[in-house]
Amino acid sequence: MSSEHTTASPAELTIHPVARPLRGTARVPGDKSISHRVLILGALADGPTVVRGWLPAADCLATLRCVRALGVRVDVSPDDPTSLTVHGVGAEDLQEPDDVLDCDGSGTTMRLLCGLLAGRPFFSVLTGREALRRRPMRRVAEPLRLMGATVLGRHEGAYAPLAIRGGLLEGIEYPMPVASAQVKSALLLAGLQAGGTTTIHQPGPARDHTERLLKAMGAPLHLEGDNIVRVRRPDTPLRPLGTPETPFLVPGDFSSAAFLLVAGLLVPESDLVVLDVGVNPTRTGALEILRSMGADITVEHRRHAQVEPIANVRVRASRLQATHVGGEVVVRAIDEFPIIAVAATQAHGSTVVRDAAELRVKETDRIANVARELNKMGARVEPRPDGFVVHGPTPLHGAEVESHGDHRLAMALAIAALIAEGTTTIRGADVIADSFPSFTETLSILTDTGRKA
Ligand code: S3P
Repeated sequence: MSSEHTTASPAELTIHPVARPLRGTARVPGDKSISHRVLILGALADGPTVVRGWLPAADCLATLRCVRALGVRVDVSPDDPTSLTVHGVGAEDLQEPDDVLDCDGSGTTMRLLCGLLAGRPFFSVLTGREALRRRPMRRVAEPLRLMGATVLGRHEGAYAPLAIRGGLLEGIEYPMPVASAQVKSALLLAGLQAGGTTTIHQPGPARDHTERLLKAMGAPLHLEGDNIVRVRRPDTPLRPLGTPETPFLVPGDFSSAAFLLVAGLLVPESDLVVLDVGVNPTRTGALEILRSMGADITVEHRRHAQVEPIANVRVRASRLQATHVGGEVVVRAIDEFPIIAVAATQAHGSTVVRDAAELRVKETDRIANVARELNKMGARVEPRPDGFVVHGPTPLHGAEVESHGDHRLAMALAIAALIAEGTTTIRGADVIADSFPSFTETLSILTDTGRKA
């Protein structure tokens, strides 16, 4: 693909196969999970949090609008949408919103705000796109009810719109049935406002950004091993995460980098470095999976950027073999399975993914739709109840494919299209703006001449 080969329209992306290796360096936008959290946690701080490298993508913009609707001032730099200041007021001074809170397509916005609002003595309603209104919310509503909040929703509280009347909460001891960072974070936000201690047992190591950020803010949060977190109401105000002198720097999003890394693996003779990427081990399961397939990926210049580790990640085109994926690595790679499936189409043998039934309740059913769309391009992907099997290697050919409203499926198909024979058209590609608005531009620059992005 090159700039003259690629046309992005609001809803349709046309991609031709790439003719030359991907070389040079690239950057990816700020981490989506952390960008949501700096807004919500920044609102709870005592004073302004100054942020750089924030992700101005649709999902995070939904959180921005919701946080503002709760009476929190957020100033976004007029010249740079990645620079902002959250004027924290503390939980007590959040205001009842005068209208419904629109979470757009963002599950993280809805689930984290449920936890925040459960502790507030006012009424709020959370809604969003049709696809978000089909995603399971009982997993967050139920424990919040046990803590004392009123959370109502369609189908007996299972689906949004959700109506919340928060108030006095009591800490609970809660074994989470699914490993979910969104549910864990919601309970931590509620636990910060509750009497007593809230103890969360997670079945697996879901991303721990909320814990890291809250600790940096001085919250009384304690970890026991990898899977138990305790939190209680702070005795002193929470410190802002970033000051004007030392702004909080959001690392590059590993989940966005994963698309470029797999492109580098699959396009012959590529040698590419993605700079300043977050490499928190609760996020980098895909590195382990790809390496087990023979991927030549190295993590270079690893360093600590405030509360998160970052690094430059280098990839060289590699001959891949099939692998088996299951167990605890699944949650640490949960957003990367669409692009892992693309890599597996070029691996020798049958790649088996199991223990990943959560993929069925993401932005779309990622088991059914990854298989459906990649198979249109000549792949052999078999859906299974809790994962999929990919038989490879298979040559891919261009096709007309669908995003199913899923940004990561759209980007995975775009990477597959780079190595397919003929032209691929991705319908509904405008959803890429949910997490990586500059994706097509970054890919065009990379596939052009290897210029720096
Ligand atoms: C996220 C947690 C994960 C992930 C999502 C972002 C977060 O969802 O898939 O993209 O920021 O906490 P679950 O908590 O549902 O696993």
